[in-house]
Amino acid sequence: GKVAVLMGGRSSEREVSLMSGQGVLDALRSQGVDAHAFDPAQQSLDALKKQGFDRCFIALHGRFGEDGTVQGALELLGIPYTGSGVMASSIAMDKVMTKRIWRFEGLPTPDWRMVGSAQETSQAFAALGAPMIVKPARDGSSMGLTKVTDAGQCAQAYALAAQYDEEVLCEQFIAGDETTCAVLGSGSGAAALPVIRIEAPGGNYDYQNKYFTDTTQYHCPSGLPADEEVCIQQIVEKAFRTLGCRGWGRADVMIRKSDRQPFLLEINTSPGMTSHSLVPMAARAQAMSYEQLCLTILAAAAL
Ligand code: DAL
Ligand code: MG
Repeated sequence: GKVAVLMGGRSSEREVSLMSGQGVLDALRSQGVDAHAFDPAQQSLDALKKQGFDRCFIALHGRFGEDGTVQGALELLGIPYTGSGVMASSIAMDKVMTKRIWRFEGLPTPDWRMVGSAQETSQAFAALGAPMIVKPARDGSSMGLTKVTDAGQCAQAYALAAQYDEEVLCEQFIAGDETTCAVLGSGSGAAALPVIRIEAPGGNYDYQNKYFTDTTQYHCPSGLPADEEVCIQQIVEKAFRTLGCRGWGRADVMIRKSDRQPFLLEINTSPGMTSHSLVPMAARAQAMSYEQLCLTILAAAAL
């Protein structure tokens, strides 16, 4: 049947989504799938039904795409879609909700405060210490993110994050190795792919270094000791299952330099699929091509 690749959308990650979607679209078509681009910012999802689509590959990132809203609309339309369902998508989009659940389940995540003003951001800095990450609770790709090393930066960091979301999160920065780990499958069949270790210029894996520079180094195999690699994979699988995620996803994990303790930062339920993206890189390390990866994700489409 006809497959709609949902791409674009209305979030701050629209441009990233268009790149992800184009990659997915080309890959599915090359494998003989009758796939078509569909931008929910340009037409109502009702049109999916009228145009005879019987499955959706969600390549949207951020709000109105990765956050349960589109998933809910597809549930109502009765069209199976890739990735997590309504609740897991919605929780995973909110970094604070995610952290509360992980903490409750005993999964390691850096200390945090939710703040509603510049003053509270300064108070959080006093409590959490330097460096501190200030970011919107519900966004991706490092949009609106500041690494605060000096109390004087708090007001500006808050103002920037608040442009993206009324919920602003302050989080202790974990100095050490930056890693990310993809998961494929669902429930007890959810399995982690090889871990990727990221070395960005100056340690800043920001929006620019994520998508547009070629100086960020990605290591997969990660080069980490085997026991650390397995530990990250196990924590990420548990983090994925605990939120009730489905199909595929990718968790970002920092490994603290002082004691090699891993800390979960977040789960992306609709991770990037651009040429620079990490899930395709991890799949490749397991001898799974980009095309095979897209087919695998699509095959797990469900309601
Ligand atoms: N939010 C971006 C797309 C990612 O995590 O890959
Ligand atoms: Mg993210």
